Amino acid sequence: MATPEIDLSVYPDECDAFGHLNQASFLSLFERARWEMLARGPGMNVFDRAGVWPAVRKTTIDYHAGAFPGDVLRFQQALTHHGRTSFTMRQTARRVRDDTLIATAEFVFVCIDRGGRPVPVPQDVVAFMGGETTPSDVRRVVVNGVGLALDTAGAGPAVLFIHGYPLDRSLWRHQVEQLHGYHRIAPDLRGMGRSDAPDLGYSIATYADDLAALLDAMGIDEAVLCGISMGGYIALECARRWRRRIRGLVLMDTRAEGDSPEGRRGRDTAAAAARERGTAAVADAMLPKLFAGETAETVGAPWAQVEAMIRATPVPGIVGALSAMRDRPDSTGMLSSLGEIPVLVVSGEEDRIIPATQARALAAAIPGARLRVIAGAGHLPPVERPAETTEVLREFLEEIHGPAQGRAG
Ligand code: MLT
Repeated sequence: MATPEIDLSVYPDECDAFGHLNQASFLSLFERARWEMLARGPGMNVFDRAGVWPAVRKTTIDYHAGAFPGDVLRFQQALTHHGRTSFTMRQTARRVRDDTLIATAEFVFVCIDRGGRPVPVPQDVVAFMGGETTPSDVRRVVVNGVGLALDTAGAGPAVLFIHGYPLDRSLWRHQVEQLHGYHRIAPDLRGMGRSDAPDLGYSIATYADDLAALLDAMGIDEAVLCGISMGGYIALECARRWRRRIRGLVLMDTRAEGDSPEGRRGRDTAAAAARERGTAAVADAMLPKLFAGETAETVGAPWAQVEAMIRATPVPGIVGALSAMRDRPDSTGMLSSLGEIPVLVVSGEEDRIIPATQARALAAAIPGARLRVIAGAGHLPPVERPAETTEVLREFLEEIHGPAQGRAG
């Protein structure tokens, strides 16, 4: 459901000596727009009715252009993330007269009761804002000061799944559900899915450190790492930093090279678009390139699934991931040394972001590496060809650990 747009006028008493809408006044206007939105939906007393108060835990505002007395600003609000007791709203303010983007903001709220204790987000609010109303009991582990959401299943040798940009752990749903005989672990990287999204602190090395800390927290000494695309960049960084713990490596639709100068500029352009126009801009730019098909009709269910993932990614996580990828090291010099661990390179035959020819070259540069090309898949085989991808992984895992039959889960 689209929430109502709210028009508010700028008054002289909200402006500074030069007539600009004062930065502190934006806070009031964003808040006024939120209450007005609730008044037109479930009612301004929707929180009161539930005995809940939404306490602001974090505010981020980007000021893009000046606004002046008499300007009418149009506020749009979207729920970008919600957990059991917290939720995040993104708001934009545009001048109605010329559609200039004036400011964008992100607010993180924690719902508390009168005693200050965290309590669930009222379902009326979530439903009105278009979020999923099923309570989320996502498992969370705090690493390096950041809460990571994760799915786990099964028992046996550990497999750590690392999703790409700007996606989340549900990319691996089929593999986590079906790869019986292994301890499957699929976290949301910091800044994505339901993990915390700090404003700063993103690099490929930080993601790799988070994963090492996650394994520590779970008491796991070694794992097979399976990284797709940006997840592959991270898996290579893990191999650089803590290879001893890597029992095997799956590099899926990924590359070892760093970004070209043009590619780096593209990351900055994409980050600016995300800041200004939010996740819809990212989804629009990426979706047509991600699959073997090019339209929602030809791709079917995976299109909607991936679109929902992109749209739910917090903007700081998107901007952080783009800077992390822009600045990532070139790993080509390390490939010859990877022969000491079992490596499988996987590619969607019709990947248009990292073509299968690049996957062949990657496999050829790693002594002993296997290559599997998945027919009918583009950049995201785990959702485009889930059963085939799971089988390819199962064969590789059985080469390392022997047949899974007899192992639980
Ligand atoms: C990904 O799927 O993770 C990204 O497309 C990788 C990239 O942009 O380099």
